[in-house]
Amino acid sequence: MSLSIVILAAGQGKRMNSKLPKVLQPLAGVPLLGHVLNTAHSLKAADIHVVYGHGGEQVRAAITDPSINWVLQAQQLGTGHALAQAMPQIADDQTVLVLYGDVPLTRPQTLQPLLDAVTAGSVGLLSVKLNDPSGYGRIVRNNVGRVVRIVEHKDANTKERLIDEANTGLLAARAGQLKQWLSQLKNDNAQGEYYLTDIVTIAVRDGVNVEAVQAPSEAEVLGVNDKVQLAEVEAHLRGWRAKELMLQGATLADPARVDIRGEVTVGKDVFIDVNVVLVGRVHLADGVRIGPNCYLKDTEVGAATELFPNCVTDRAVIGPECNIGPFARLRPEARLADHVHIGNFVEIKKSNIGSGSKANHLTYVGDAQVGSGVNIGAGTVTVNYDGANKWQTEIGDNAFIGSGSMLVAPVSIGAGANTGAGSTITKDAPAGKLTLARARQVTLDGWKRPNKKS
Ligand code: UD1
Ligand code: CA
Repeated sequence: MSLSIVILAAGQGKRMNSKLPKVLQPLAGVPLLGHVLNTAHSLKAADIHVVYGHGGEQVRAAITDPSINWVLQAQQLGTGHALAQAMPQIADDQTVLVLYGDVPLTRPQTLQPLLDAVTAGSVGLLSVKLNDPSGYGRIVRNNVGRVVRIVEHKDANTKERLIDEANTGLLAARAGQLKQWLSQLKNDNAQGEYYLTDIVTIAVRDGVNVEAVQAPSEAEVLGVNDKVQLAEVEAHLRGWRAKELMLQGATLADPARVDIRGEVTVGKDVFIDVNVVLVGRVHLADGVRIGPNCYLKDTEVGAATELFPNCVTDRAVIGPECNIGPFARLRPEARLADHVHIGNFVEIKKSNIGSGSKANHLTYVGDAQVGSGVNIGAGTVTVNYDGANKWQTEIGDNAFIGSGSMLVAPVSIGAGANTGAGSTITKDAPAGKLTLARARQVTLDGWKRPNKKS
């Protein structure tokens, strides 16, 4: 017996007021459906079916997970009808777990008891105790505490509405039984829908036990219907991820003001100041300090390196004991060795910067190989683009690039060479010498400032 997961995602999500389908709304940078798929994968599902609706082409185009079997539910006739669309493709001896595309935070370990219930011959349901369960289906138990049915809020009487155990909608059952039960569903209810929840009544009638397992927290079963709920779910996830980082040894100036949108790992004694956004795969080694308002995407930061405020990095590799920023930008394939200083308004792209080299002010370094111990003066530009192609600049060890140098690539500056401030260097500059390339200074006698026209 193995596991088939069916994710119901055909609902319209009108309350999002968005052109983007609900299940594609990003949560921590990943579509809602992506979170549910991650859960499905960590439960080692043998097959994953996503029930999608009209206009779902956008969803199919955006979610490229090759393991998904897409099932079209052309008309949204209810959750029972939705599941029924997927069942013909699932063998009778499979365990079926139903997840919702808009319930993103359920952890695999919370769902495991539902699967265990199926192994024991029962139906497993995930329920949750709520202070305000209005809107939810309620779990109705008999006088010995056994689940006998689920009643939807709209169909519930006053007494049933007092029940605080709500249905999360997530359930597991044996495929063969589900098929039989689904075929018996009727839509004679307040919403005129085929309710998946009605299988509970039928199962009980068939003498099958229904086990309602309570979720450990409300956050794990929150559904996202509008932007307010999206923000709530985001806040929960942010809190959990911040906690993970703190337990790994990071100090966060304010856990509510760090956004983790990917897989972030940290060494010991890392400090992260406020309003830091970490995206994709980010690793911060021991003793790294990240100043306020930094945005790091797919970046590795070496031990004891400090990023001052307002740095932006993307696919950069930064060595140990570097100083970066404030206001530095490291673009894809910026690779910095150790003890490198990159200062304010400096942009580095697709370049290697050697040990101890510095570019502290107002500089662009792109497509360059920079040696160690190099000093790049303020306002230097590697002129790497001729309008059609990109060209390389090489700067040897211990070179000193005068302020305002234009290094027109392809060009090479030898080891220990100096370039004069304001030089436009178009030919290779030899090692160990001063190279100047600028017009001779003149002073015009008798020149007058223009007067303002009246
Ligand atoms: C459902 C449950 C309710 C539970 C609540 C928890 C039923 C009848 N009721 O109610 O007991 O408390 O979830 O949030 O199941 N969907 C489809 N096709 C459809 C209808 C729905 O794919 O025809 C999908 C939706 O995209 C969504 C999920 O099923 O992901 C739930 O549908 P929704 O209409 O939100 O169910 P509720 O009425 O909230
Ligand atoms: Ca709902």
